[in-house]
Amino acid sequence: MTNALIVYTSRTDKTEQIGTLVAEGLRMSGVEVIVKKVGDIKNGSDLEGFDALVLGSATYHGEMMQGMKTLLFLAEKAALEGKVGGSFGAFGWSGETPNRIFETMKNPFRMNMVAGPLYLKSSTLGGGIEMTQEYG
Ligand SMILES: Cc1cc2nc3c(=O)[nH]c(=O)nc-3n(C[C@H](O)[C@H](O)[C@H](O)COP(=O)(O)O)c2cc1C
Repeated sequence: MTNALIVYTSRTDKTEQIGTLVAEGLRMSGVEVIVKKVGDIKNGSDLEGFDALVLGSATYHGEMMQGMKTLLFLAEKAALEGKVGGSFGAFGWSGETPNRIFETMKNPFRMNMVAGPLYLKSSTLGGGIEMTQEYG
C-alpha cells in the first residue's frame, strides 16, 4: 500500500487543521497516512520509508517556524530523492512559508513535487476544506 508522512508545526492549530485535511484527502485516495509534529522527528531517517512526504508550517514574521527549519536540516540527511512531496501552511497576509518549504524539497532534496504548495488563509479555512482534501 502507498504510504505518506505528514509533518507540521503550528502555533494556533490552523496549520495542524490543514494537515489533518490533507491526511483525509490522501486516505480517501487509498493512501496510508501518518501525521506527526516536527518535534517527533529526531533524525533524518525518521522521514524515510514513505512514498510521499508532506511538510507544513505557518508563517510568522515572514518566515517558517523554527521547528520546520530544524526539520529541513534533518531532512537534508534523509534519502528523499524521487519521493513525492508537497507543502502547506496557514498564513495571514504574506504567506512566504509553503513556497520556501516546497522549493527546499524540490531543489536540494530533489523530490518529485506535486503541482505547487498549498496556501490557506486562516480566516478562510472553513471554505478550503474540499480544496485541502483534494490536495491530498
Ligand atoms: C506575531 C504574528 C506574526 C505573523 N506574521 C505573519 C507574516 O509575516 N505573514 C503572514 O502571512 N502571516 C503572519 N501571521 C499570521 C499567521 O500566519 C496566521 O495567524 C496563521 O493562521 C497561523 O497559523 P497556525 O495556527 O498554524 O500557527 C502572523 C501572526 C502573528 C500572531
